[in-house]
Amino acid sequence: MSDQSYPVRSDGISLAPRAVSASASEQAHIVTVGNMNGANRLFGGLLFSWMDETAGVTARRHAGTHVTTAAVEQMRYLAPVFRNQIIMVQARVTYTGRTSLEVLAIAEREEFDGSRELVADARFIFVALDEDGNTVPVPPLRIETPEQQALFDAAAERRKK
Ligand SMILES: CC(C)(COP(=O)(O)OP(=O)(O)OC[C@H]1O[C@@H](n2cnc3c(N)ncnc32)[C@H](O)[C@@H]1OP(=O)(O)O)[C@@H](O)C(=O)NCCC(=O)NCCS
Repeated sequence: MSDQSYPVRSDGISLAPRAVSASASEQAHIVTVGNMNGANRLFGGLLFSWMDETAGVTARRHAGTHVTTAAVEQMRYLAPVFRNQIIMVQARVTYTGRTSLEVLAIAEREEFDGSRELVADARFIFVALDEDGNTVPVPPLRIETPEQQALFDAAAERRKK
């Protein structure tokens, strides 16, 4: 099916399926003195906001319109982060509903040799909105790998509950 065969939203955005890679995002941060909490570790709320922002960029790229955060599921802090470390935040779409989409965000600590260790992850649910704040449909996800299919199926199962 060519892209022209799919419906087009009222704002002109095609609802043809979009690949995960088309909206995946990555942001780098260096942890500064001002980012620390009282225990001299990265403040968890700040790390959360970095993840929310990267996930939001991904959701907006996929939806092709404004998005708002509807829910955050299973935010996990898995390892501490200290001053002057590099934190890489990555986000990718894992599920699309009618007007909502799920984005998996992960944060990794990057070492001088380029190796990375997972320090946090979370699932963000966004809803697509038009200029007036009304919900609008999102393009479906084009699944290209067995891992993407497994993440999609797991999200679909959670949505049923
Ligand atoms: C998110 C919001 C737009 C949803 O509005 P709503 O009237 O409940 O919309 P609907 O019932 O039509 O739901 C829209 C979609 O969102 C999903 N959804 C809504 N709330 C959800 C939640 N808490 N968890 C998961 N999915 C949710 C619905 O399942 C539906 O998905 P689908 O279209 O893919 O099937 C509305 O609740 C809102 O504006 N919340 C505030 C968001 C905000 O300000 N975020 C920033 C926080 S600072």
